[in-house]
Amino acid sequence: SVDISKLRDISGAITLDPGYKNSGACTSEITFLDGEEGILHYRGYSIEELAEKSNFLEVCFLLIYGELPTAAQVLDFETHIRRYTLVNEEMKSIIDGFPTTAHPMGVLSALTSALIAFNPKAVNPEHPDELYEAVCKLLGKFLVIASWTYRKSLGYPLNYYDNTIGYVENFMQLMFKLPTEPYKADPVVVEALDKLFILHADHEQNCSTSTVRMVGSSHAGLFASVSAGISALWGPLHGGANQAVLEMLEEIHANGGDAEKYMAKAKDKNDSFRLMGFGHRVYKNFDPRAKIIKKAADEVLSTLGVNDPILEIAKKLEQLALADEYFISRKLYPNVDFYSGIIYRALGIPTDMFTVMFAIGRLPGWIAQWKEMRLNKEPIGRPRQIYTGSPLRSFVAMEKR
Ligand code: ACO
Repeated sequence: SVDISKLRDISGAITLDPGYKNSGACTSEITFLDGEEGILHYRGYSIEELAEKSNFLEVCFLLIYGELPTAAQVLDFETHIRRYTLVNEEMKSIIDGFPTTAHPMGVLSALTSALIAFNPKAVNPEHPDELYEAVCKLLGKFLVIASWTYRKSLGYPLNYYDNTIGYVENFMQLMFKLPTEPYKADPVVVEALDKLFILHADHEQNCSTSTVRMVGSSHAGLFASVSAGISALWGPLHGGANQAVLEMLEEIHANGGDAEKYMAKAKDKNDSFRLMGFGHRVYKNFDPRAKIIKKAADEVLSTLGVNDPILEIAKKLEQLALADEYFISRKLYPNVDFYSGIIYRALGIPTDMFTVMFAIGRLPGWIAQWKEMRLNKEPIGRPRQIYTGSPLRSFVAMEKR
Protein backbone atom coordinates (compact mmCIF):
# COMPACT_ATOMS: atom_id res chain seq x y z
CA SER A 1 0.00 0.00 0.00
CA VAL A 2 1.20 3.52 -0.72
CA ASP A 3 1.46 6.20 1.95
CA ILE A 4 0.19 9.09 -0.16
CA SER A 5 1.44 11.73 2.27
CA LYS A 6 5.03 10.57 1.67
CA LEU A 7 4.60 11.02 -2.08
CA ARG A 8 3.18 14.51 -1.87
CA ASP A 9 6.39 16.37 -2.59
CA ILE A 10 7.04 14.79 -5.96
CA SER A 11 3.94 12.95 -7.21
CA GLY A 12 2.06 16.05 -8.28
CA ALA A 13 4.76 16.79 -10.82
CA ILE A 14 4.88 13.31 -12.29
CA THR A 15 2.69 11.72 -14.94
CA LEU A 16 2.49 7.99 -14.39
CA ASP A 17 1.99 6.24 -17.72
CA PRO A 18 3.30 2.65 -17.66
CA GLY A 19 4.06 1.46 -21.16
CA TYR A 20 3.95 5.10 -22.36
CA LYS A 21 0.48 4.45 -23.80
CA ASN A 22 -0.34 8.14 -23.91
CA SER A 23 2.99 9.89 -23.50
CA GLY A 24 5.00 11.22 -26.37
CA ALA A 25 8.76 11.28 -25.79
CA CYS A 26 9.77 13.24 -28.87
CA THR A 27 8.65 15.00 -32.00
CA SER A 28 9.55 13.24 -35.22
CA GLU A 29 9.49 13.96 -38.94
CA ILE A 30 10.10 10.37 -39.97
CA THR A 31 6.93 8.24 -39.81
CA PHE A 32 3.23 9.08 -39.65
CA LEU A 33 0.88 6.41 -38.33
CA ASP A 34 -2.92 6.58 -37.94
CA GLY A 35 -4.17 3.37 -36.32
CA GLU A 36 -7.87 4.12 -36.72
CA GLU A 37 -7.60 4.75 -40.44
CA GLY A 38 -4.88 2.18 -41.11
CA ILE A 39 -2.43 4.74 -42.49
CA LEU A 40 1.36 4.48 -42.50
CA HIS A 41 3.62 7.03 -44.22
CA TYR A 42 7.41 7.31 -44.32
CA ARG A 43 8.54 10.94 -44.72
CA GLY A 44 5.12 11.73 -46.23
CA TYR A 45 5.03 8.86 -48.74
CA SER A 46 2.42 6.12 -48.29
CA ILE A 47 3.84 2.65 -47.74
CA GLU A 48 1.47 1.38 -50.43
CA GLU A 49 3.21 3.58 -53.00
CA LEU A 50 6.67 2.87 -51.65
CA ALA A 51 6.09 -0.90 -51.66
CA GLU A 52 4.89 -0.72 -55.25
CA LYS A 53 7.33 1.76 -56.78
CA SER A 54 10.43 1.93 -54.62
CA ASN A 55 12.95 -0.55 -53.29
CA PHE A 56 14.44 -1.22 -49.88
CA LEU A 57 17.73 0.68 -50.28
CA GLU A 58 15.89 3.72 -51.62
CA VAL A 59 13.58 3.57 -48.60
CA CYS A 60 16.63 3.30 -46.31
CA PHE A 61 17.95 6.52 -47.84
CA LEU A 62 14.53 8.19 -47.63
CA LEU A 63 14.11 7.36 -43.94
CA ILE A 64 17.63 8.38 -42.96
CA TYR A 65 18.04 11.46 -45.15
CA GLY A 66 14.43 12.65 -45.49
CA GLU A 67 14.14 12.69 -49.30
CA LEU A 68 14.04 10.08 -52.04
CA PRO A 69 17.55 9.81 -53.50
CA THR A 70 18.46 11.03 -56.97
CA ALA A 71 19.96 8.50 -59.40
CA ALA A 72 23.46 9.74 -58.50
CA GLN A 73 22.73 9.45 -54.79
CA VAL A 74 21.44 5.87 -55.15
CA LEU A 75 24.55 4.89 -57.06
CA ASP A 76 26.80 6.45 -54.45
CA PHE A 77 24.81 4.89 -51.60
CA GLU A 78 24.98 1.39 -53.13
CA THR A 79 28.68 1.78 -53.91
CA HIS A 80 29.46 2.82 -50.35
CA ILE A 81 27.38 0.03 -48.83
CA ARG A 82 29.13 -2.53 -51.06
CA ARG A 83 32.50 -1.12 -50.01
CA TYR A 84 31.70 -1.89 -46.38
CA THR A 85 30.21 -5.35 -46.67
CA LEU A 86 33.50 -7.02 -45.80
CA VAL A 87 33.46 -8.04 -42.16
CA ASN A 88 36.71 -8.31 -40.22
CA GLU A 89 37.87 -11.94 -40.30
CA GLU A 90 38.42 -11.84 -36.54
CA MET A 91 34.66 -11.54 -36.15
CA LYS A 92 34.52 -15.18 -37.21
CA SER A 93 36.29 -16.29 -34.05
CA ILE A 94 33.62 -14.47 -32.06
CA ILE A 95 30.94 -16.37 -33.98
CA ASP A 96 32.81 -19.60 -33.39
CA GLY A 97 32.52 -18.97 -29.66
CA PHE A 98 28.74 -19.43 -29.77
CA PRO A 99 27.16 -22.88 -29.62
CA THR A 100 25.32 -23.77 -32.84
CA THR A 101 22.12 -23.85 -30.77
CA ALA A 102 22.40 -20.14 -29.82
CA HIS A 103 19.35 -18.08 -30.83
CA PRO A 104 20.29 -15.97 -33.88
CA MET A 105 18.89 -12.78 -32.29
CA GLY A 106 21.30 -13.10 -29.34
CA VAL A 107 24.18 -13.70 -31.74
CA LEU A 108 23.11 -10.77 -33.95
CA SER A 109 22.94 -8.39 -31.01
CA ALA A 110 26.36 -9.53 -29.74
CA LEU A 111 27.95 -9.31 -33.19
CA THR A 112 26.54 -5.83 -33.78
CA SER A 113 28.12 -4.76 -30.49
CA ALA A 114 31.34 -6.52 -31.45
CA LEU A 115 31.49 -4.48 -34.68
CA ILE A 116 32.31 -1.48 -32.48
CA ALA A 117 35.64 -3.06 -31.57
CA PHE A 118 36.60 -3.06 -35.24
CA ASN A 119 35.08 0.38 -35.93
CA PRO A 120 35.99 2.21 -32.73
CA LYS A 121 35.71 5.79 -33.98
CA ALA A 122 32.70 7.47 -32.34
CA VAL A 123 30.35 8.84 -34.99
CA ASN A 124 29.57 12.51 -34.82
CA PRO A 125 26.04 12.77 -36.28
CA GLU A 126 26.65 16.44 -37.05
CA HIS A 127 29.48 15.51 -39.37
CA PRO A 128 27.75 14.38 -42.62
CA ASP A 129 30.70 12.38 -44.01
CA GLU A 130 31.29 10.52 -40.77
CA LEU A 131 27.61 9.76 -40.45
CA TYR A 132 27.35 8.60 -44.05
CA GLU A 133 30.27 6.23 -43.56
CA ALA A 134 28.75 4.80 -40.37
CA VAL A 135 25.32 4.39 -41.99
CA CYS A 136 26.76 2.55 -44.99
CA LYS A 137 29.00 0.41 -42.80
CA LEU A 138 26.11 -0.65 -40.63
CA LEU A 139 23.77 -1.39 -43.56
CA GLY A 140 26.51 -3.37 -45.34
CA LYS A 141 27.91 -5.38 -42.46
CA PHE A 142 24.57 -6.00 -40.76
CA LEU A 143 23.19 -7.92 -43.76
CA VAL A 144 26.27 -10.13 -43.84
CA ILE A 145 26.42 -10.90 -40.11
CA ALA A 146 22.65 -11.55 -40.05
CA SER A 147 23.15 -14.27 -42.65
CA TRP A 148 26.17 -15.59 -40.74
CA THR A 149 24.02 -16.22 -37.64
CA TYR A 150 22.07 -18.69 -39.79
CA ARG A 151 25.04 -20.28 -41.55
CA LYS A 152 26.76 -20.76 -38.22
CA SER A 153 23.71 -22.55 -36.76
CA LEU A 154 24.00 -25.09 -39.59
CA GLY A 155 27.78 -25.35 -39.45
CA TYR A 156 27.94 -24.19 -43.10
CA PRO A 157 30.80 -22.12 -44.55
CA LEU A 158 30.12 -18.40 -44.37
CA ASN A 159 29.33 -16.57 -47.61
CA TYR A 160 30.51 -13.12 -48.71
CA TYR A 161 28.64 -10.25 -50.37
CA ASP A 162 28.50 -10.50 -54.16
CA ASN A 163 29.11 -7.11 -55.78
CA THR A 164 27.38 -8.14 -59.02
CA ILE A 165 23.89 -8.43 -57.53
CA GLY A 166 21.61 -6.22 -55.44
CA TYR A 167 21.26 -5.89 -51.66
CA VAL A 168 18.17 -8.05 -51.13
CA GLU A 169 19.22 -10.67 -53.69
CA ASN A 170 22.54 -10.79 -51.85
CA PHE A 171 20.76 -11.68 -48.66
CA MET A 172 19.22 -14.78 -50.26
CA GLN A 173 22.60 -15.78 -51.67
CA LEU A 174 24.42 -15.13 -48.40
CA MET A 175 21.89 -17.38 -46.67
CA PHE A 176 21.45 -20.22 -49.12
CA LYS A 177 24.35 -20.53 -51.57
CA LEU A 178 26.33 -23.73 -51.13
CA PRO A 179 29.95 -23.95 -52.38
CA THR A 180 29.14 -26.98 -54.51
CA GLU A 181 26.14 -25.61 -56.40
CA PRO A 182 25.26 -22.53 -58.45
CA TYR A 183 22.62 -20.32 -56.84
CA LYS A 184 20.18 -17.81 -58.27
CA ALA A 185 17.38 -16.38 -56.12
CA ASP A 186 13.94 -16.35 -57.76
CA PRO A 187 13.09 -12.72 -58.72
CA VAL A 188 9.57 -13.13 -57.28
CA VAL A 189 11.12 -14.11 -53.96
CA VAL A 190 13.55 -11.18 -54.06
CA GLU A 191 10.71 -8.78 -54.80
CA ALA A 192 8.57 -10.15 -51.96
CA LEU A 193 11.49 -9.90 -49.54
CA ASP A 194 12.22 -6.35 -50.70
CA LYS A 195 8.58 -5.44 -49.96
CA LEU A 196 8.74 -7.12 -46.56
CA PHE A 197 11.85 -5.13 -45.65
CA ILE A 198 10.18 -1.88 -46.81
CA LEU A 199 7.07 -2.61 -44.74
CA HIS A 200 9.14 -3.25 -41.62
CA ALA A 201 11.50 -0.30 -42.13
CA ASP A 202 9.98 2.01 -39.51
CA HIS A 203 6.96 2.15 -37.22
CA GLU A 204 7.53 5.33 -35.21
CA GLN A 205 8.13 4.98 -31.46
CA ASN A 206 7.76 1.20 -31.05
CA CYS A 207 9.63 -0.67 -28.31
CA SER A 208 12.90 -1.31 -30.17
CA THR A 209 13.02 2.15 -31.75
CA SER A 210 12.37 3.81 -28.41
CA THR A 211 15.19 1.66 -27.02
CA VAL A 212 17.56 2.84 -29.74
CA ARG A 213 16.64 6.48 -28.99
CA MET A 214 16.91 5.94 -25.23
CA VAL A 215 20.34 4.28 -25.41
CA GLY A 216 21.53 6.83 -27.96
CA SER A 217 20.34 9.68 -25.75
CA SER A 218 23.27 8.96 -23.42
CA HIS A 219 25.46 9.58 -26.50
CA ALA A 220 26.26 5.88 -26.77
CA GLY A 221 27.32 5.20 -30.35
CA LEU A 222 25.13 4.19 -33.27
CA PHE A 223 26.21 0.53 -33.29
CA ALA A 224 25.74 0.18 -29.50
CA SER A 225 22.28 1.77 -29.71
CA VAL A 226 21.25 -0.54 -32.56
CA SER A 227 22.55 -3.57 -30.66
CA ALA A 228 20.22 -2.62 -27.78
CA GLY A 229 17.35 -2.23 -30.26
CA ILE A 230 17.94 -5.80 -31.48
CA SER A 231 17.54 -7.10 -27.93
CA ALA A 232 14.28 -5.15 -27.52
CA LEU A 233 12.97 -6.49 -30.83
CA TRP A 234 13.64 -10.09 -29.79
CA GLY A 235 10.72 -10.33 -27.34
CA PRO A 236 7.54 -12.18 -28.37
CA LEU A 237 5.42 -9.10 -27.65
CA HIS A 238 7.35 -7.21 -30.32
CA GLY A 239 9.34 -8.64 -33.24
CA GLY A 240 9.22 -12.14 -31.80
CA ALA A 241 5.50 -12.37 -32.70
CA ASN A 242 6.32 -13.57 -36.23
CA GLN A 243 8.05 -16.60 -34.71
CA ALA A 244 5.04 -17.17 -32.42
CA VAL A 245 2.69 -17.32 -35.43
CA LEU A 246 4.63 -20.16 -37.02
CA GLU A 247 4.98 -22.00 -33.74
CA MET A 248 1.19 -21.81 -33.36
CA LEU A 249 0.65 -23.16 -36.88
CA GLU A 250 3.10 -25.99 -36.19
CA GLU A 251 1.26 -26.83 -32.99
CA ILE A 252 -2.09 -26.94 -34.80
CA HIS A 253 -0.54 -29.22 -37.41
CA ALA A 254 1.01 -31.51 -34.80
CA ASN A 255 -2.40 -31.83 -33.14
CA GLY A 256 -4.25 -32.98 -36.24
CA GLY A 257 -4.55 -29.73 -38.24
CA ASP A 258 -8.03 -28.91 -36.94
CA ALA A 259 -8.24 -25.13 -37.60
CA GLU A 260 -11.90 -24.95 -36.46
CA LYS A 261 -10.95 -26.35 -33.06
CA TYR A 262 -8.32 -23.63 -32.56
CA MET A 263 -10.73 -20.94 -33.72
CA ALA A 264 -13.13 -22.12 -31.04
CA LYS A 265 -10.31 -22.07 -28.47
CA ALA A 266 -9.42 -18.48 -29.47
CA LYS A 267 -13.02 -17.40 -28.89
CA ASP A 268 -13.42 -19.26 -25.60
CA LYS A 269 -13.08 -16.75 -22.78
CA ASN A 270 -12.06 -19.56 -20.39
CA ASP A 271 -9.11 -20.41 -22.61
CA SER A 272 -6.07 -18.12 -22.69
CA PHE A 273 -5.21 -19.18 -26.25
CA ARG A 274 -5.13 -16.36 -28.81
CA LEU A 275 -4.85 -16.62 -32.51
CA MET A 276 -1.33 -15.30 -33.03
CA GLY A 277 -0.99 -12.90 -35.95
CA PHE A 278 -4.49 -11.47 -35.47
CA GLY A 279 -5.27 -8.09 -33.91
CA HIS A 280 -3.05 -5.08 -33.33
CA ARG A 281 -2.68 -2.55 -30.52
CA VAL A 282 -2.62 0.45 -32.83
CA TYR A 283 -4.36 -0.66 -36.04
CA LYS A 284 -8.03 -1.15 -35.28
CA ASN A 285 -9.46 -1.49 -38.76
CA PHE A 286 -6.68 -3.16 -40.65
CA ASP A 287 -2.90 -3.27 -40.69
CA PRO A 288 -2.00 -1.53 -43.97
CA ARG A 289 1.21 -3.56 -44.14
CA ALA A 290 -0.73 -6.83 -43.96
CA LYS A 291 -2.80 -5.99 -47.06
CA ILE A 292 0.33 -5.51 -49.16
CA ILE A 293 2.12 -8.51 -47.77
CA LYS A 294 -0.83 -10.84 -48.23
CA LYS A 295 -0.67 -10.18 -51.97
CA ALA A 296 3.08 -10.83 -51.97
CA ALA A 297 2.55 -14.04 -49.98
CA ASP A 298 0.03 -15.30 -52.54
CA GLU A 299 2.48 -14.56 -55.37
CA VAL A 300 5.38 -16.27 -53.63
CA LEU A 301 3.36 -19.36 -52.78
CA SER A 302 2.02 -19.80 -56.28
CA THR A 303 5.39 -19.08 -57.95
CA LEU A 304 7.23 -21.53 -55.76
CA GLY A 305 4.38 -24.05 -56.05
CA VAL A 306 4.57 -24.48 -52.32
CA ASN A 307 2.59 -27.38 -50.98
CA ASP A 308 2.99 -27.24 -47.23
CA PRO A 309 0.34 -28.36 -44.70
CA ILE A 310 1.37 -25.52 -42.35
CA LEU A 311 0.55 -22.96 -45.00
CA GLU A 312 -2.77 -24.67 -45.70
CA ILE A 313 -3.63 -24.28 -42.01
CA ALA A 314 -2.72 -20.59 -42.19
CA LYS A 315 -5.01 -20.05 -45.18
CA LYS A 316 -7.83 -21.91 -43.44
CA LEU A 317 -7.48 -19.83 -40.25
CA GLU A 318 -7.49 -16.62 -42.26
CA GLN A 319 -10.63 -17.71 -44.12
CA LEU A 320 -12.42 -18.68 -40.92
CA ALA A 321 -11.42 -15.52 -39.02
CA LEU A 322 -12.42 -13.12 -41.80
CA ALA A 323 -15.93 -14.62 -41.82
CA ASP A 324 -16.32 -14.98 -38.05
CA GLU A 325 -18.54 -12.64 -36.04
CA TYR A 326 -16.21 -12.74 -32.99
CA PHE A 327 -13.24 -11.55 -35.05
CA ILE A 328 -15.23 -9.11 -37.19
CA SER A 329 -16.91 -7.39 -34.22
CA ARG A 330 -13.59 -7.01 -32.37
CA LYS A 331 -11.82 -5.79 -35.49
CA LEU A 332 -9.27 -8.58 -35.33
CA TYR A 333 -7.64 -8.75 -38.72
CA PRO A 334 -4.46 -10.57 -39.71
CA ASN A 335 -1.47 -8.35 -38.93
CA VAL A 336 1.84 -8.06 -40.79
CA ASP A 337 3.35 -10.85 -38.68
CA PHE A 338 0.78 -13.37 -39.86
CA TYR A 339 1.76 -13.12 -43.51
CA SER A 340 5.47 -12.37 -43.09
CA GLY A 341 5.94 -15.70 -41.28
CA ILE A 342 4.19 -17.48 -44.13
CA ILE A 343 6.54 -15.97 -46.71
CA TYR A 344 9.66 -16.66 -44.65
CA ARG A 345 8.57 -20.25 -44.21
CA ALA A 346 7.97 -20.64 -47.96
CA LEU A 347 11.48 -19.28 -48.60
CA GLY A 348 12.97 -21.94 -46.37
CA ILE A 349 13.98 -19.52 -43.64
CA PRO A 350 13.92 -21.31 -40.28
CA THR A 351 11.49 -20.07 -37.64
CA ASP A 352 14.09 -18.75 -35.22
CA MET A 353 15.52 -16.53 -38.02
CA PHE A 354 12.18 -14.72 -38.51
CA THR A 355 12.94 -11.97 -36.02
CA VAL A 356 16.37 -11.47 -37.60
CA MET A 357 14.52 -10.79 -40.87
CA PHE A 358 12.48 -8.17 -39.03
CA ALA A 359 15.71 -6.64 -37.69
CA ILE A 360 17.18 -6.31 -41.20
CA GLY A 361 14.04 -4.48 -42.28
CA ARG A 362 13.90 -2.24 -39.19
CA LEU A 363 17.59 -1.23 -39.31
CA PRO A 364 17.10 1.94 -41.43
CA GLY A 365 14.32 3.08 -39.07
CA TRP A 366 16.60 2.66 -36.06
CA ILE A 367 19.38 4.59 -37.82
CA ALA A 368 17.02 7.40 -38.90
CA GLN A 369 15.56 7.74 -35.41
CA TRP A 370 19.01 7.72 -33.75
CA LYS A 371 20.18 10.42 -36.14
CA GLU A 372 17.06 12.54 -35.60
CA MET A 373 17.33 12.21 -31.82
CA ARG A 374 20.97 13.33 -31.82
CA LEU A 375 20.50 16.17 -34.33
CA ASN A 376 17.50 17.44 -32.34
CA LYS A 377 19.85 17.51 -29.34
CA GLU A 378 17.34 15.61 -27.25
CA PRO A 379 18.19 15.34 -23.55
CA ILE A 380 19.20 12.05 -22.00
CA GLY A 381 16.15 9.80 -21.55
CA ARG A 382 15.47 9.46 -17.87
CA PRO A 383 11.89 8.67 -16.83
CA ARG A 384 10.74 9.48 -13.31
CA GLN A 385 8.95 7.07 -10.99
CA ILE A 386 6.61 7.08 -8.03
CA TYR A 387 8.30 5.30 -5.17
CA THR A 388 6.08 2.70 -3.46
CA GLY A 389 8.71 0.93 -1.31
CA SER A 390 9.47 1.02 2.40
CA PRO A 391 9.81 4.30 4.30
CA LEU A 392 13.19 4.95 5.97
CA ARG A 393 14.12 2.19 8.44
CA SER A 394 17.12 1.18 10.53
CA PHE A 395 19.66 -1.36 9.34
CA VAL A 396 18.99 -4.86 10.77
CA ALA A 397 22.05 -6.75 12.00
CA MET A 398 22.60 -10.20 10.47
CA GLU A 399 21.80 -12.13 13.67
CA LYS A 400 18.44 -10.34 13.94
CA ARG A 401 17.14 -11.06 10.41
N1 ACO B 1 -7.32 -14.03 -30.72
C1 ACO B 1 -8.48 -14.07 -30.06
N2 ACO B 1 -9.04 -13.01 -29.43
C2 ACO B 1 -8.38 -11.86 -29.48
C3 ACO B 1 -7.15 -11.72 -30.15
C4 ACO B 1 -6.62 -12.86 -30.80
N3 ACO B 1 -5.46 -12.79 -31.48
N4 ACO B 1 -6.70 -10.45 -30.04
C5 ACO B 1 -7.61 -9.81 -29.32
N5 ACO B 1 -8.63 -10.65 -28.98
C6 ACO B 1 -9.86 -10.29 -28.24
C7 ACO B 1 -9.61 -10.12 -26.77
O1 ACO B 1 -9.81 -11.33 -26.07
C8 ACO B 1 -10.63 -9.07 -26.43
O2 ACO B 1 -11.89 -9.69 -26.35
P1 ACO B 1 -13.05 -9.13 -25.34
O3 ACO B 1 -13.35 -7.73 -25.82
O4 ACO B 1 -14.17 -10.08 -25.49
O5 ACO B 1 -12.43 -9.16 -23.98
C9 ACO B 1 -10.65 -8.17 -27.66
O6 ACO B 1 -10.25 -9.02 -28.75
C10 ACO B 1 -9.70 -6.97 -27.59
O7 ACO B 1 -8.40 -7.47 -27.26
P2 ACO B 1 -7.28 -6.64 -26.49
O8 ACO B 1 -6.30 -7.59 -25.91
O9 ACO B 1 -7.95 -5.66 -25.58
O10 ACO B 1 -6.65 -5.85 -27.69
P3 ACO B 1 -5.24 -5.11 -27.66
O11 ACO B 1 -5.32 -4.04 -28.66
O12 ACO B 1 -4.84 -4.77 -26.27
O13 ACO B 1 -4.24 -6.26 -28.14
C11 ACO B 1 -2.79 -7.55 -29.48
C12 ACO B 1 -3.62 -6.26 -29.36
C13 ACO B 1 -1.82 -7.67 -28.30
C14 ACO B 1 -1.95 -7.49 -30.78
C15 ACO B 1 -3.76 -8.74 -29.52
O14 ACO B 1 -4.67 -8.60 -30.60
C16 ACO B 1 -3.02 -10.07 -29.61
O15 ACO B 1 -2.63 -10.61 -28.56
N6 ACO B 1 -2.81 -10.62 -30.84
C17 ACO B 1 -2.07 -11.83 -31.00
C18 ACO B 1 -0.55 -11.56 -30.92
C19 ACO B 1 0.02 -10.90 -32.16
O16 ACO B 1 -0.27 -11.26 -33.28
N7 ACO B 1 0.91 -9.89 -31.94
C20 ACO B 1 1.57 -9.19 -33.05
C21 ACO B 1 1.06 -7.81 -33.18
S1 ACO B 1 1.75 -7.05 -34.66
C22 ACO B 1 3.30 -6.49 -34.26
O17 ACO B 1 3.67 -6.39 -33.14
C23 ACO B 1 4.28 -6.16 -35.38
